[in-house]
Amino acid sequence: MRTRTVAEPYKIKMVEPLRMTTREERERAIREAGFNTFLLRSEDVYIDLLTDSGTTAMSDAQWSAMMRGDEAYAGARSFYRLEAAQKEIYGFKHMIPTHQGRAAEHLTSQIRIKPGQYVPMNMYFTTTRAHVERAGGIFYDCIVDEAKDPWSDFPWKGNVDVAKLQKLVDQVGPESIAYLSISPCVNMAGGQPFSMANLREVAAWADRYGLPIIFDATRAVENAYFIQQREEGYAGVPVARILREMMRLGEGCTVSSKKDNLVNIGGFLATNNDAFALKAKELVVVFEGMPTYGGLAGRDLEALAQGMREMVEDAYIASRVEQVAYLGRRLSEAGVPMVRPVGGHAVFLDAKRFLPHLAQDQFPAQTLAAALYLDSGVRAMERGIVSAGRNHKTGDHHRPELELVRLTIPRRVYTNLHMDVVAESCIELFEHRETIKGLRMVYEPESLRFFQARFEELEAVAC
Ligand code: F0G
Repeated sequence: MRTRTVAEPYKIKMVEPLRMTTREERERAIREAGFNTFLLRSEDVYIDLLTDSGTTAMSDAQWSAMMRGDEAYAGARSFYRLEAAQKEIYGFKHMIPTHQGRAAEHLTSQIRIKPGQYVPMNMYFTTTRAHVERAGGIFYDCIVDEAKDPWSDFPWKGNVDVAKLQKLVDQVGPESIAYLSISPCVNMAGGQPFSMANLREVAAWADRYGLPIIFDATRAVENAYFIQQREEGYAGVPVARILREMMRLGEGCTVSSKKDNLVNIGGFLATNNDAFALKAKELVVVFEGMPTYGGLAGRDLEALAQGMREMVEDAYIASRVEQVAYLGRRLSEAGVPMVRPVGGHAVFLDAKRFLPHLAQDQFPAQTLAAALYLDSGVRAMERGIVSAGRNHKTGDHHRPELELVRLTIPRRVYTNLHMDVVAESCIELFEHRETIKGLRMVYEPESLRFFQARFEELEAVAC
């Protein structure tokens, strides 16, 4: 039987015009931005693949739900509707909204980490790690080795390596571990999922030592979709059921609602641990606001409750992840080096192999992201040595194995023709890769430097 095309399970009701720029305009813009795509103005960008965070197109149901927003300072109806959606979809007993994900990470790190304790994670994420370290915690990487090999086709590159966890416990003892921070569809590994089998194994191991799992469940639905597609026993199981099954294996989660949850702003902390929830409610008032709004407006809570319901619709999540796969297929057919298999939210170009003539200290991924913008006005993001930051003790760069450019696909925003434009630009750059010169960093903020660091072209420095 022929396979039939499956189109997006929605139609477009409102449009936002895109501005196309000339090469000269883009040259001026990227220079002004210090060759950092984070510092570009969005009006100078044609197709914006900087992030899938907060860039979602909301549905008519979400926009109309916003009209019901109860803006009461305390005890708003909107909060209780959101809490009910969270209980139904994630299944945790307590929920504390925050203005975005990192605020939930802040609360969690401050409450759950004693200085000097380790926090094992399946690879780091920038904000999560920053909050762990600010609380005096020590990040410990426990992801499987396959995650660091862009050419490995292993389907579960987000898996935790239990042997690495065991090694840590043997060395420092379980009391020196605050909790396990487990992330579905690991962002920095290329949006790679873990399997349910691995999660069950990790949970059983953690149980033996009384260690809680606190998920960074930011992209848990995308992970649930991969489990549905790839893991034995899950074919045809609704994504909503798989998500609940995953969450049951943890004590709680932090979430950036700007991703899976289909809203432009928001986040939350959820947990079954009464003492943790109580402490978080104390602390959230200091940083975010009352625990029934956590830095969000009542209308934001409404959009989030509706977004949670839409994110677990099987047709939606299939269309979302398959669009990312479509871009990945076009690039891989042309031989463009990228992380395989393609992840849930983005295609990650392998800048080390794309620009083999550049040393890592010449910032290959930063260079490639700037070159892509110059070529076509497509904005991508560096995920390599700049994002990894410095070792606070030695002052030297962290040198991550992966030196990647992330082409992140916003949810329900672009069509596959936009994906074609992106693919053609990447392919053309790859054909002329030896003409691309490296960069030198000329300004560097102390933390999360990738957001605001500035660069100059190496060639410009030499002459
Ligand atoms: N955890 C993960 C896995 C994330 O990807 C992000 C944000 C956060 C936590 C923090 O959430 O932005 O709401 O405070 N990632 C964005 C990105 C910035 O582009 O990947 P936030």
